[in-house]
Amino acid sequence: MNILSINDLSKDDMLKIFGIADNLKENREQTALRENSVLALFFEKPSTRTRTSFEAGISQLGGKGIYIDSNTSQRSRGESFADIGRMLSSYCDFIAARLYKHDDIIELAENSSVPVINALTDLEHPTQALVDMYTISSHIKNPKEAKIAFVGDIATNTANSLMLAATKLGSRISLVGPKDYMPNSIYFNKAREHGLVYVYDDIKEGLDGANIVYTDTFVSMGQEAEADKRKEMFKDYQVNSKLLEYASDDALVMHCLPAHRGEEITAEVIDGPKSIVWEQAKNKLLLAKAILLFVSMQHE
Ligand code: CP
Ligand code: NVA
Repeated sequence: MNILSINDLSKDDMLKIFGIADNLKENREQTALRENSVLALFFEKPSTRTRTSFEAGISQLGGKGIYIDSNTSQRSRGESFADIGRMLSSYCDFIAARLYKHDDIIELAENSSVPVINALTDLEHPTQALVDMYTISSHIKNPKEAKIAFVGDIATNTANSLMLAATKLGSRISLVGPKDYMPNSIYFNKAREHGLVYVYDDIKEGLDGANIVYTDTFVSMGQEAEADKRKEMFKDYQVNSKLLEYASDDALVMHCLPAHRGEEITAEVIDGPKSIVWEQAKNKLLLAKAILLFVSMQHE
């Protein structure tokens, strides 16, 4: 199986992944990976956490990660993703790819004989959404009680994946961003089929009752040319102490990172008592391992 999108996972699959993560955390017996498994990490964009957590994760499971920077691969001279998928899967047991275009990871996966994991594309960041929902579940046991407000760039890859994962698990998600700036309609409509998802431009209404306040950068990778315009467009949606007054008193703050203090979030908030950002980031290693184990079990 591939994990290109949260659409590839049922609610039960997500709960199984969380169960594997719990087993790993508690050092309980857990099915192992095939000996000497190899994970190819093919990346077109930078990464601090996703790359390292998957590389560390496969090592800790007894396998090995091989990082391939797109710029130093033959992709830089035009090799197709179809050929890359065909070749990498003949050397490796899994492929994790971070690509600009979502269509490219589909092409890579269609030509791969081993599972492909989306390590972020322009449309989705499914492994991040799994980390996020797992982290939320450590604080709010019943997913129906999690009321997430995603604030800022509500059309980002992390928002798309999180709205699918949250609604599938039964949590409510409000997307809070500037007037006339809409979420991706395909993801929004899909999330609406699963459950409770709303769009607000009014911060007070959007944050009402939220016990999770989530934000992401205002300028995603690949959008650098529009940086000034985007920072201006989203500036009123910065997660700061004043904005948090509209959320529930016990609200927790999350961010997929990397953070830009003073832009989408203030230092006071991200480094303050409501932030569970560092726990969230730490969980990436646990979930990377759980995802690899889950995918390998499906592939047997
Ligand atoms: N959150 C996340 O995906 O971080 P990296 O870009 O550092 O991998
Ligand atoms: N939306 C961000 C997420 C980074 C992990 C980006 O695509 O740059």
